[in-house]
Amino acid sequence: MSKSHLFGRDMICSQDWKKEELDEILELAKKMKKDRFSPKFTKLLEHRTFFMFFYNPSVRTRQSFECAATELGGHAQFLEPKTMRLKTKKTAGETTEDAAKVMSRYACGIGIRILEDKISYYGQGDELLREYAKYADIPIVNMADDKFHPCQALADVMGIQEHLGEDLKGKKILITWAHGALARSWCSVQEAALLCSRYGMDVTIAYPQGYDLDPKVIEDVKKNCSENGAKFETTNDVKDGYKGAHVVYSRNWMSPNAYHDGEFHKQEEIEKALGYPEWICDAEKMKLTENALFTHPMPIDRGHEVTDDVASGPRSIIYDVAENRLHVQKAIMALTMSERL
Ligand code: CP
Repeated sequence: MSKSHLFGRDMICSQDWKKEELDEILELAKKMKKDRFSPKFTKLLEHRTFFMFFYNPSVRTRQSFECAATELGGHAQFLEPKTMRLKTKKTAGETTEDAAKVMSRYACGIGIRILEDKISYYGQGDELLREYAKYADIPIVNMADDKFHPCQALADVMGIQEHLGEDLKGKKILITWAHGALARSWCSVQEAALLCSRYGMDVTIAYPQGYDLDPKVIEDVKKNCSENGAKFETTNDVKDGYKGAHVVYSRNWMSPNAYHDGEFHKQEEIEKALGYPEWICDAEKMKLTENALFTHPMPIDRGHEVTDDVASGPRSIIYDVAENRLHVQKAIMALTMSERL
């Protein structure tokens, strides 16, 4: 029994990890999926607790992390900031440094989710995770912040590989903005673009004017594409990006104006987004593709982001990807938190 060389590492963004290290996660996740309850895996976190610190709600992330901890022989504990007397701009309380150092004395890792309405400017959620990572002696796992969602993107790539084969070079993913009433953070789409480009996929990002993503992240996606011989494109045309796509990923995201005057303007964002009804992934647009797979990180805003016949159709891999969250997270936890590998 020993530790992986990845023991102790934080997982805040896949871009912070080497490609070979990401391969190790996916390789172990695939083994864990194939042989889910093997005794090789069921004691890796025996007697250990993983803290899950949720500022925002979740279905998949909470449930899959709880199942992951159970299946590794450990326990996942749900924490909410409102129960923790933490210091904020407006209230006195415990500092991040103290909270992180104390939590490190109890648990084997801390997952944190903070995005959308729980922050007052873009980047604040990611900053909080990095502050926890600075002070904690145990791994910090990003369970979705306002910039990145690495567990989701690893599950996306695992699902795409399961359907298109291990080598994704030359395969095109279209990441397309979709209208909707949820005003979502950029985390899932930015991380998908970063990771798919690491795996050699051609990346096209389509969105109406005024919905640009983080320019620094886009620079990294371009760099990944150029290092991996892949193409990168953006378009403001609702249909062009579908041409030649092997994977279509539709998702609403908020505009860069969502945070101003120190607040998240959710209602404004929703009203603006609903003004683009043509930005829905439907069967007519999917006909322009190379019989593309459809994926989405979920929860889906059906009827806005995608039609039911595409979301529930034969080329949809949404449930495979959602399942893969479990396997990917088990692999991350085993590699970064287990001393029994
Ligand atoms: N994809 C995802 O993170 O889902 P939840 O918001 O339900 O956790």
